[in-house]
Amino acid sequence: MNNSKNVGNYIFGKGAIKELPKLLEAKRENGYILYFIDHYFQNRDLEIELKDGDEVFYVDTTDEPKTEDIDRFRDRVLELQKGIPNAIVSIGGGATLDTGKAVSNLLTNGGKAEDYQGWDLVKLAGVYKIGVPTVSGTGAEASRTCVMTNSKSGLKLGMNSDFTIYDQLILDPSLTKSVPKEQYFYTGMDTYIHCIESLNGRYRNAIGDAYSQQAIELVREVFHSEDMMSDENREKMMVASYLGGCAIANSFVGVVHPFSAGLSVVLGTHHCIGNCITMNAMEEFYPKEYLEFLEMAEKQGIEVPKGITKDLDDEVYQKLYNSTVIHSKPLSNALGDDFEQILDFKKVKEIFQKM
Ligand SMILES: [Fe+2]
Repeated sequence: MNNSKNVGNYIFGKGAIKELPKLLEAKRENGYILYFIDHYFQNRDLEIELKDGDEVFYVDTTDEPKTEDIDRFRDRVLELQKGIPNAIVSIGGGATLDTGKAVSNLLTNGGKAEDYQGWDLVKLAGVYKIGVPTVSGTGAEASRTCVMTNSKSGLKLGMNSDFTIYDQLILDPSLTKSVPKEQYFYTGMDTYIHCIESLNGRYRNAIGDAYSQQAIELVREVFHSEDMMSDENREKMMVASYLGGCAIANSFVGVVHPFSAGLSVVLGTHHCIGNCITMNAMEEFYPKEYLEFLEMAEKQGIEVPKGITKDLDDEVYQKLYNSTVIHSKPLSNALGDDFEQILDFKKVKEIFQKM
């Protein structure tokens, strides 16, 4: 049975980021604070007070994290010759939040990031960490994983561990105000997709279901409304993302995420847009949700890209197939242990061709 863990503490509300200095006060003694900040904020004022000795690493989120990026960040910390930081603060979207989690684990556990791709391989608690999401939907702020791709093996898998969960969150909906509307929609849909996948799966539990149901409800309210980015809706979406992250800590995803991971590994498609592109081909597996997804995209004036797999040859389809069916946990959650009989090469190719 699952022994579930959630985030230790959170502060929620408009302007909550102003609480950060207070939270860090107790962590400053004989040490420094390391910030991972999404490169989007490099020339923008985040209104965080840096103190002498603090270090800021900007995270280039043009591409999603790779295991070697995490190793490189660890090396940069060691090159500082200041020892391990007393706290890590990650400010950004899913990629930045995941980077902070992974480096935190790596600094105390040693070895390479790829050594911990899997379930419960992290042996020691990481550096104390605070997460501050600036876009809502991935659930990275609440989940027990930090997704990264091993470009050698093609494996897109995180460090699934209780130690990966943030110690403290600051959930400040004013930080999501400047997110471009397409990204806001795609990222918000990630929550919806996590939750429909988990509710349609075999591995269920009542608490995970309750998180999922409420998260879906909130996403629906936001994406069926006139202005998905109003103050109230950005607040709802931030709650939905958090609940969706808690839901997924209690269950597994399903068919959408493995296909989206295939797109990501082989074609470099980002996670949230990749999920939406995949949703366009999911009528067979999630018929009701497929229709609702189309409805919500239309309501918000979002055109999900189509045709990204046209002109691909069989060699590329083979790679797509391999990096999709490798995700046996979510696929067996959705389709049963014999999922490979349903998802043979021909079928997987057909699904990708619909994208
Ligand atoms: Fe996701």
